[in-house]
Amino acid sequence: MIHSFTDTPTSRAQAPVVRTVADLRQAVAALRAEGRGIGFVPTMGALHDGHLSLVAEAARDGFAVVVSIFVNPAQFAAHEDLSTYPRDEAGDVAKLTRAGATLVFCPGVDEVYPPGFGTTITVDGPSGGLEGDLRPTHFAGVATVVAKLLLMVRPDRVVFGQKDAQQVAVVRRLMRDLHLDDVQMVVAPTVRDDDGLARSSRNAYLSATERDEALALSRGLRAAQSAVAAGERDAATLEALARREMEAVAGLRVDYARLVDADTFSPLHRLDRPAVLCVAARAGTTRLIDNVPLTPGTP
Ligand code: PAF
Repeated sequence: MIHSFTDTPTSRAQAPVVRTVADLRQAVAALRAEGRGIGFVPTMGALHDGHLSLVAEAARDGFAVVVSIFVNPAQFAAHEDLSTYPRDEAGDVAKLTRAGATLVFCPGVDEVYPPGFGTTITVDGPSGGLEGDLRPTHFAGVATVVAKLLLMVRPDRVVFGQKDAQQVAVVRRLMRDLHLDDVQMVVAPTVRDDDGLARSSRNAYLSATERDEALALSRGLRAAQSAVAAGERDAATLEALARREMEAVAGLRVDYARLVDADTFSPLHRLDRPAVLCVAARAGTTRLIDNVPLTPGTP
């Protein structure tokens, strides 16, 4: 059933949910017929304030906002947390309604990957290194589902979070390579708790001790940021500053601290162009990533 989209978020019980591509297309067509632009936020659910900030970005200029909730099996390796990934559709829809989302798309796995599905999109360049080395099939899974979702929704604007910086670089390349340049891509800043921890659905896995330990990621990034503000440009020095904070915490196992080109994600020796300092570590069994964009001119 397709609902009216002219209701304000407070006047309706919840944002309408559609589960098939056919219903999604009908609903988006109805919104376009009302003269609305379409903003789109792809998510895997387990929504937090970081996601809700993406909804606000998508809604700029009076756009209607479509949010997808789909835990994409293709981006999880066999040993990863697909089966335990936090799921709370009713809670997510309630949050999205309060945040002003217009329509929620919650497809089942068979709707996205029907029997016989045989296309995978791999993106060279930014998919290599860092997360790409540690999770070799991850970015092909992300690129494939993001391309499919963009073709299903056909938005005017799509919003991603800076928290997943390498994903942002992969999707930017994907959209350039596939001529999806009529879709505006917006990257919203990472939302953090007051003590600096980047918001992530996986934070739900952390015990109180692990959460404390996890603070070393953002502490390390801040140390590097301060060094840049004081004039430091050497990549190894910046990486060592971030790594030192993380290695000082006994419970953390550091995967990497690396300065990379913001666009290609190739490693840098010096901060001489727009870059991202990326860190990853494990607290207990939970893998955490964080990053900070850095440019030579501005701290
Ligand atoms: O960032 C995420 O939540 C996912 O990688 C995305 C973009 C929704 C694709 O499944």
